[in-house]
Amino acid sequence: MHIDKYEKYWIIAVSATLGVFMAALIVGAIVFGVRTPDAEGFVNPNRLGDTMFANPGVRDVGNNVYEVTMTAQMWSFNPAIVRVPVGAQVDFFITSSDVTHGFIIEHHNVNFELVPGHIARAQVTFDEVGEFQFICHEYCGRLHHIMHGTIIVEEVDEFAQVGE
Ligand code: CUA
Repeated sequence: MHIDKYEKYWIIAVSATLGVFMAALIVGAIVFGVRTPDAEGFVNPNRLGDTMFANPGVRDVGNNVYEVTMTAQMWSFNPAIVRVPVGAQVDFFITSSDVTHGFIIEHHNVNFELVPGHIARAQVTFDEVGEFQFICHEYCGRLHHIMHGTIIVEEVDEFAQVGE
């Protein structure tokens, strides 16, 4: 078989590149423990009324911890507005009731794919007072682009005054 000189260089370059990627994957998984996110649990997306998602919203569970249950559906989040006090631990539990959606909070390290039947979970502490948008970043149909919401992080006494 005849292999052109330049063809040979390309074969070597491509093989080396693949080798480096494969090594990075293996080192990442073994040394740094990189894992793809797992579902926190499972629910029947057709019967969310029988689950922890029956009454989505923010719950004060004590010790400065707030639990947010949220559902995603074409083309909204419920609730679309989440109020939490600054500095609190906020546990998000989110699921989709129809198709796959996304969930990403600006300026925070939260980025989910919301798969129907899967519960996505994230623990976030908002250290800064302000408003942060969250959006769906997985194409989910005609009105995907309007699917968003707001997290309002308030001063502790301001939050206490308005109440839930
Ligand atoms: Cu939901 Cu895009």
